Amino acid sequence: MSLPPGFLEELRNRLPLARVVGRKVAWDARKSNQAKGDFWAPCPFHQEKSASFHVDDRKGFYYCFGCHEKGDAISFVTKTENVSFIEAVEILAREAGMQMPAQDPRAAEKVSRNTRLAEVMELAVQHYRLQLATKGAEAARAYLGRRGLSEAAQKRWEIGWAGDDRHGLTRALKAKGVTDDLLLEAGLTGEGQGGGYDRFWGRIIFPIRDARGRAIALGGRSLDPNARAKYLNSPQTPLFDKGRNLFNHGPAREAAGKGAPLIVAEGYMDVIALAEAGFAGAVAPLGTAITDEQLALLWRIADEPILALDGDKAGVRAAMRVIDLALPKLEAGKGLRFALLPEGQDPDELIKARGAGAMQAVLDAAQPMVRLLWQRETEGKVFDSPERKAALDKALRAAIAGVKDPSIRHHYGEEIKRLREELWGAKPREFRPYERREFRGKGAKSLPAHPMASTRASALAAGTAPVRNILWDVLGGDGPGGSAEDDLRRNILAILLVTPALIPDFAHEIETLDCPDAGQAALRDGLLRHADAPDLREALGREIGTDGVERLLRAAHILAIRPPGEIESSRLDLAEALAKLAARRGFVEAIREGEDDITTGHADEWLTRRLGQAAAGVDTTLRKETEDTREVVLAPNGLPMDKDERERLDRIFSGIDFSRGGRGPRA
Ligand code: UTP
Ligand code: MN
Repeated sequence: MSLPPGFLEELRNRLPLARVVGRKVAWDARKSNQAKGDFWAPCPFHQEKSASFHVDDRKGFYYCFGCHEKGDAISFVTKTENVSFIEAVEILAREAGMQMPAQDPRAAEKVSRNTRLAEVMELAVQHYRLQLATKGAEAARAYLGRRGLSEAAQKRWEIGWAGDDRHGLTRALKAKGVTDDLLLEAGLTGEGQGGGYDRFWGRIIFPIRDARGRAIALGGRSLDPNARAKYLNSPQTPLFDKGRNLFNHGPAREAAGKGAPLIVAEGYMDVIALAEAGFAGAVAPLGTAITDEQLALLWRIADEPILALDGDKAGVRAAMRVIDLALPKLEAGKGLRFALLPEGQDPDELIKARGAGAMQAVLDAAQPMVRLLWQRETEGKVFDSPERKAALDKALRAAIAGVKDPSIRHHYGEEIKRLREELWGAKPREFRPYERREFRGKGAKSLPAHPMASTRASALAAGTAPVRNILWDVLGGDGPGGSAEDDLRRNILAILLVTPALIPDFAHEIETLDCPDAGQAALRDGLLRHADAPDLREALGREIGTDGVERLLRAAHILAIRPPGEIESSRLDLAEALAKLAARRGFVEAIREGEDDITTGHADEWLTRRLGQAAAGVDTTLRKETEDTREVVLAPNGLPMDKDERERLDRIFSGIDFSRGGRGPRA
């Protein structure tokens, strides 16, 4: 569904964020200033007693100073209700009394056809459920009993029975006015000699519902252990795409939203057994190996789904397939864990044999993905020669190279390094997570020179270990997180303290200013809270002590702070300090990523070039040699920044006017 332009804006305008959030939190009346749209509460995203969660109702933006969750009304609903973006929009639109946009007639027709199909599926589900209670279903009931499914559980899972009558469903549904073509389109009948016959017969029926609870398909298990197909599922239909749905999706999503682990099992009976044993967040793919789309669904429900795999060869092979699928898609905070079951048991069998406690133990022992990757490459192999070790390194590097997120790639490299050390006591530096890339001949030309590559950068191109030192030298000081950054932060806070008029314009930058020092963090929060106080310094002094305030002012670089009242010049100083801090941040990332290579003394050309770019970028920021200010900030780590980040930096830079002869960035 596409939303017309302006729809979301209207939605945000009509529904104050404080009202949306207010349902989930209890405002701290003392800390909040509701008249000013300034709301504080204990954070709904993490456990806390104090009120670190801030809602800026006028801007429609929330931010938690404790866990750093941030977003707007829509993202708040997606996170707290565990629903998709469009579902969140629907929820909010309903509340705001806004009509969801009308669809074009063809789309509307398709929707009504699908609605009709879902009704037919629902009729089928109910028909089969009734059949399970009939006399002819004795064998089925006995089978379910043997599998340990109580009547209550059968009811909960809406289990049905397709008897041996090959026209039973067709007859019953046609009597209710369902046409042949609907039955066929819903996948409930097949075309045989002389007309339609039921697709399912002689099978236990498991209804499959989509996330919203609509019946979209059926799974059927044969009672006959020698049946040609143990399970027969609905075919692909307009309602059912087996690769894009999960068994028990809706209930599991809800449970996961309340904190239950999301467990991915292989079969229907596993999900049922898990849920009945108290693991409510269980799902299964539907008769296929896990697909890309299902992986995406899983990550929308939980950050770290646990795959429960049969402890046999096939289970481990399945895990390996999932690893290959998942590696390129990893992003920070999203991962997978793998719980390996005892050989030859699935969750259903394990729970039956040894109870929920045994299952819990298996889940507790779940391994992160990097471990399985390691296992895949090392298990059953002996690394008793340099050649074999090199082959292992190569295979691991190839796998890690698939990880797109640079920070995760780095951590994978670290973990592999550690495991490798464990295995044969190698010194960490022997393994570099990055393949050394040679840029010679043709390759060298295909890599464009960075427009700002300075002489310093080319000096770096020849560099080895001292590279890092030169770069930090450029940045005027010590390593990441060191005193240079601290100075910048102090100056930023001091400028704001002296010229509070700037606070509203930089509210977002201030909110997201990372202050490792607790005193500075308290000051940062206080600045935001008391931005409108008639006497900011006095208000802060009362809250966090005059001492802290005075100490900050004393420690700030006197040159960075102008007397009160010089608002525009102070704005430039502030923007500049923020930009430097951001540039350093990008630079620290690049350094961290490349550090392995540098310390080995093998700074390859590719890496050196990137660091060179970073140096050139920072250098230029500091030396006022640039025309395109944005380039500087985008360049430092050579990586594209996400939209938020870019907009923020754009905003910072839009505050600097380099053409005005006055004060630009200075060294
Ligand atoms: P399994 O063969 O592991 O069956 O298939 P299971 O789940 O343990 O089933 P029970 O316990 O014997 O009843 C795992 C899943 O693979 C799909 C089904 O979704 C099944 O739950 N499958 C299996 C099929 O789609 N068709 C088949 O013929 C077999
Ligand atoms: Mn089983």
